[in-house]
Amino acid sequence: MRMLVTGAAGFIGSHLAERLQGLGHETIGFDNFSSYYAPELKELNAGILQDKGIVVHTLDLRDSNALADRTPDFDYIFHLAAQPGISTDCTFEDYLSNNFVATKNVIDFALRCKNLKLFVNIATSSIYGLQASFDEEKVPEPVSFYGVTKLAAEELVLAASREHKIKACSLRLYSVYGPRERPEKLYSKLIAAAFSGEVFPLYEGSGSHLRSFTYVQDIIDGIVSVIGKESQVDSQIINIGTEEEHTTQQGIDAIEKITGKKIRIESVAPRPGDQIRTHAVIGKARKLLGYNPATSFEDGLRAQVEWYTTYFACEETP
Ligand SMILES: NC(=O)c1ccc[n+]([C@@H]2O[C@H](COP(=O)([O-])OP(=O)(O)OC[C@H]3O[C@@H](n4cnc5c(N)ncnc54)[C@H](O)[C@@H]3O)[C@@H](O)[C@H]2O)c1
Repeated sequence: MRMLVTGAAGFIGSHLAERLQGLGHETIGFDNFSSYYAPELKELNAGILQDKGIVVHTLDLRDSNALADRTPDFDYIFHLAAQPGISTDCTFEDYLSNNFVATKNVIDFALRCKNLKLFVNIATSSIYGLQASFDEEKVPEPVSFYGVTKLAAEELVLAASREHKIKACSLRLYSVYGPRERPEKLYSKLIAAAFSGEVFPLYEGSGSHLRSFTYVQDIIDGIVSVIGKESQVDSQIINIGTEEEHTTQQGIDAIEKITGKKIRIESVAPRPGDQIRTHAVIGKARKLLGYNPATSFEDGLRAQVEWYTTYFACEETP
C-alpha cells in the first residue's frame, strides 16, 4: 500500500516511515525541515530514510498550495508534522499555523485521495492538560498553545470523519523517548549533559513530575496497529503510551547509571504549561488494537544512549 507520513524527517515520523517501509509498504514523507531544532538532525534522519528507499519531499504544509501538484494516491495518511513542545521561543502563530492550518491543508489533500482507507492524526496527552491520567472520555483541559492547537487539529480531523468524508482516528501519544529524540527534550538533554559535563537545567519542582515515558518503538507499534482496522477505529480517539510511570528524578538516576557519569544539575524557573503527571490509560488501545507496550524503561534508555554515542559522543556505553 502507499503510505504518506507528514513530519517524516522528525523524531517519531522517521521511525514510523522506516517501520512502514519495512512492512512492505511504499512510503513517502513530507517535511519542511523546520528550524525549531537543528535542521541538520532532520537531514540526518532523512538521509537514513533515503538509504532505505524512502523519499522525504521538502514542502511546507502551512501553504495551501504546497500539495496542489502532489498526486493524491495514498492508502493511509499518518499526520505527524507539527510545532511540538511548549517553548517560549515559539509564538502563538507558530502553533496555530503548523498545528491547525497545516492539518486543514492535509485534510483537504486527503479528501482528494480516492483510495484513502484511513487518516491517522497524531495527537498528544497535552490535550488533557496539567494532569493527563484519564481515559479518552475525559473533557480536555489543555493549558498551552501547543495543547490547544493540537486539540483543535484533532477536532478538525474527527469532524471530517463524523461527516463521513473520510475515515479517520486520532492517537494521543505520551512522552515519547528513544533514538533521535528531539534535542530539547528531557533524555536528549540529560544524555548530552552526561557526556559533555555541561550543566543540566532542571525546571524547579519537576523532579517529582510523573510521566508515562514511552519508548519510540512501542509508540510505532501502536500507530501501525491501526492498519486494516479502519472500521473499528473510525472517529475514535485512542491513547498510546505505557502504563508505567517514572519521575524525572528517576530518569536522571537511570541516565547516570547507564552512562556511568554524574550529571551536574542546576535548578531553573518552572516552565509554564508543564504537565505535572501523565499516565497513559490504554484500555481502549488494548481492546481495539491489541496494543501492549513492552520495552522496559532501562532497555529503552540504554538504546537511546547507544544511539547518542554512535552519532555524537563516540564513546562506548558502559
Ligand atoms: N515527542 C513526543 O513526546 C510527542 C508526544 C506526543 C505527541 N507528539 C506528536 O508527535 C508528532 C511528531 O513529534 P516529534 O516529537 O517527532 O517532533 P519533530 O519536531 O521531531 O517532528 C515534527 C516534524 O514535522 C515537521 N514540520 C513541522 N511543521 C511543518 C510544516 N508546516 N510542514 C511540513 N513539515 C512540518 C518538522 O520539520 C519535523 O521534522 C507531533 O505531531 C507531536 O505533536 C510527540
